[in-house]
Amino acid sequence: MKNTLLNVDQLEVSYGPVKAVQNISFQVNEGELVTIIGANGAGKTSTLNAIMGLTDISAGKVEFNGNDLAKSSVEAKPKLGIVMSPEGRRVFADLTVKENLIAGGITLPKAKCDVRLDEMVKRFPILGERVNQEAGTLSGGEQQMLAIARALMIGPKFLILDEPSLGLAPKIVTQVFELISELHQEGVTILLVEQNVKKSLAVADRAYVMELGHIVREGRAADLSQDKKIHEAYLGAA
Ligand SMILES: Nc1ncnc2c1ncn2[C@@H]1O[C@H](COP(=O)(O)OP(=O)(O)OP(=O)(O)O)[C@@H](O)[C@H]1O
Ligand SMILES: [Mg+2]
Repeated sequence: MKNTLLNVDQLEVSYGPVKAVQNISFQVNEGELVTIIGANGAGKTSTLNAIMGLTDISAGKVEFNGNDLAKSSVEAKPKLGIVMSPEGRRVFADLTVKENLIAGGITLPKAKCDVRLDEMVKRFPILGERVNQEAGTLSGGEQQMLAIARALMIGPKFLILDEPSLGLAPKIVTQVFELISELHQEGVTILLVEQNVKKSLAVADRAYVMELGHIVREGRAADLSQDKKIHEAYLGAA
């Protein structure tokens, strides 16, 4: 049996009267790439933010590797090996590329942080060429690479990505998905939220479909990508 790394159990998230996430349960096993798909406002970001402790949980629990994530501090999460690249890229615009990467590795001992920094600029040559450039001056695609590289600084066991391809040119979207596949092959466990349903089902092992705060479907990504209803709702006329 595969080891369950992330266990989300009967999770609810409310903003005042708005019930954004209603009683959802799902799991991500070690080594898997799982995607959550769904229309705007379905509750995907609220789910991810609740997992990371950025939004209060109204009910339910989130366990990571047996730890109650709600009880672990912001600093404890990278130490457990879980990290998120948030929606909208959110790099520190006034800081340089290098400073952004160092911020990602803030919980590491300095020597380790230096080693990871070196690895990241080699892995992302486009960032290597721009280490001293302010992040706000990077192109959208470069900022997305930086946001992912910053998350990778801790050498995560579990990576959460919220809409990594949003607003990017098709060529860059392809690069982002290639990177996600590579990380998956390297053994990083990944929870991916995406608008690009076709590409995310193509790279994922399993998928959950969210509608209006509920999980309405789940299954193997390969099966869902062949499903007529999923096609009609999310993939347009094929
Ligand atoms: N901070 C907030 N305060 C009040 N309501 C919120 C807040 N954040 C999200 N919501 C509401 O919760 C619901 C779910 O939003 P959420 O951002 O989780 O959806 P999403 O699936 O990530 O959408 P998108 O695909 O557009 O990113 C929406 O109805 C949204 O208006
Ligand atoms: Mg969102």
